[in-house]
Amino acid sequence: MTASAVDESSMKERSKQDFKPRRIERITANAKSFDHSDAVPIIESHNFSFYYGTKIGVKNITMAIYPRSVTAIIGPSGCGKSTYLRSINRMNDLIPGTHANGELKVGGINVYDKQINLVNLRQQVGMVFQKPNPFAKSIYDNITYGPKLQGTARSELAALVEKCLRDAALWDEIKDDLHKSALALSGGQQQRLCIARALATKPKVILMDEPCSALDPVATGRIEDLILQLSKNYTIVIVTHNMQQAARVSDRTAFFCMGKLIEYDNTDKIFTNPASPQTEAYVTGRFG
Ligand SMILES: Nc1ncnc2c1ncn2[C@@H]1O[C@H](COP(=O)(O)OP(=O)(O)O)[C@@H](O)[C@H]1O
Ligand SMILES: [Mg+2]
Repeated sequence: MTASAVDESSMKERSKQDFKPRRIERITANAKSFDHSDAVPIIESHNFSFYYGTKIGVKNITMAIYPRSVTAIIGPSGCGKSTYLRSINRMNDLIPGTHANGELKVGGINVYDKQINLVNLRQQVGMVFQKPNPFAKSIYDNITYGPKLQGTARSELAALVEKCLRDAALWDEIKDDLHKSALALSGGQQQRLCIARALATKPKVILMDEPCSALDPVATGRIEDLILQLSKNYTIVIVTHNMQQAARVSDRTAFFCMGKLIEYDNTDKIFTNPASPQTEAYVTGRFG
């Protein structure tokens, strides 16, 4: 082997390692939550397709997502990550001319059934967007908005606000400012507030579409820590264009390309030993 070949292979090795340190520690430290072999999926899609008019958003997606875990969806821009994510709580229905085919179940119920109550569905399957989008209201009112609609008693609201803010790792920073405008918070705090607001309706699943892409590295680190913490109690599905992030926070990773699911497996497998050459090319940065 020549010196340059050694360099190249050691660099490739190192770049693979760059993807995994925290994640691998978590896999070994927390192997039980990673082994879902006897778990019942909370989200299951079977040949699920979604169209914008005649244009394909995603096609024939068959995958199972397990409770109390983090599932990352990665892939090049326009490959259908957001479409699939937003299909899970039918956010895409808001766009005229769209339609879905196949099956997508949450908790065993096909969310595209005509009888589905969309308000209930979205309370069970919360969503956090790329750009933090708190309401132009106080911190307190942001969190109590959903619970009030659900009919939660007034006497329970203060305790609920504290719990959600604690769970979103925000309480200590803002406990004296609950009645100040949410818009005065920093971007990272706003995103944690949006997560707290999603938690307030007691969802089972939280969908996150590139939740850190508008945040600086410190705020991003906080959200990633929070995702790991929340995954003990919630099912998180996160779209990210940041592969290091997928490797750090997720248990399972799905690689999408041109509307199709190319490969879906345990995260360490996807990043260190993917089955598909397309996945390998993407995770090693050769395209995308
Ligand atoms: N509102 C829309 N109307 C028409 N086409 C759309 C709309 N949203 C997404 N698409 C198309 O669906 C495909 C998948 O997009 P998207 O799910 O946003 O990809 P990603 O999140 O991976 O970047 C793309 O071809 C995109 O142009
Ligand atoms: Mg997207």
